[in-house]
Amino acid sequence: MIVVETIDALRATRRDLKGRVGLVPTMGYLHDGHRSLVIAARQECAHVIASIFVNPTQFGANEDLSTYPRDLPRDLAMLEAEGVDVVFVPTAAQMYPPRFQTYVNVEQVSQGKEGASRPTHFRGVTTVVSKLFNLCQPDDAYFGQKDAQQVVVIRQMVRDLNFPLRIHVCPTWREADGLAMSSRNAYLSVEDRQAAVTLWRALQAMRTRYEQGERRAAMLQEAARAVFATEPRAALDYVSVARARDLEEVETADEPLLVSLAARVGKPRLIDNMLLPYHLNSREGATAVLGVG
Ligand code: PAF
Repeated sequence: MIVVETIDALRATRRDLKGRVGLVPTMGYLHDGHRSLVIAARQECAHVIASIFVNPTQFGANEDLSTYPRDLPRDLAMLEAEGVDVVFVPTAAQMYPPRFQTYVNVEQVSQGKEGASRPTHFRGVTTVVSKLFNLCQPDDAYFGQKDAQQVVVIRQMVRDLNFPLRIHVCPTWREADGLAMSSRNAYLSVEDRQAAVTLWRALQAMRTRYEQGERRAAMLQEAARAVFATEPRAALDYVSVARARDLEEVETADEPLLVSLAARVGKPRLIDNMLLPYHLNSREGATAVLGVG
């Protein structure tokens, strides 16, 4: 496995890779969800490039950039064990040199939900991901369903800016009790870790109502709110019922849905989501409906 820290070294290494190249962009502190992205890329591509970069432009002024968890030696060991060929670990100065002033902004789907709570977040994501696409020139790029709005925003960018690659969406990995794996779970205290499962319980409540035939968004949202009302440690930020293809909020569900929510549980703000009908929460299902259309 080659570890490169500079753009020049990455470009030189990329030139030598023949055949399909898969990219797994990450911010490090890797868990099994990231591992599943690498495994999917490994199965389908001749070469896999992973990037580890805690991207400053996607953090708001009062967010956790300086405390974001990091463990580079452990991350590199995991990536090597999974057969990654190249890891790109740039510094912020490499990615954003002095006088940097060009940003990629996907307008509509970046607003609302995460975009409402974090107004500059997706501009940072699309800027760094477009730089990574330009630098790594992947044929395939792998993202997790956990960040579903990010997937929709990136797919829109890929269409609008004609990036010649395919986006793959891999299912969310969960702890035994259903909590979605996230690097930010590291911030949870013991008590908050128990309360964090409220997000999953709320999604399950929405699924149950949906499978009972409920199609009114307000009623599905009410089911989620009722679960949060039972857990004082978890403060719901939003619960959204939107079309999976473009994340437009709906009043009545008549096509595949993304139900998503965010909540503060102690220190971290956590997000989670579910596609409905539930069978869409697979690699094939999510790749087929999320941000497509
Ligand atoms: O999903 C993430 O970890 C980040 O948003 C990404 C895509 C690596 C961009 O920094």
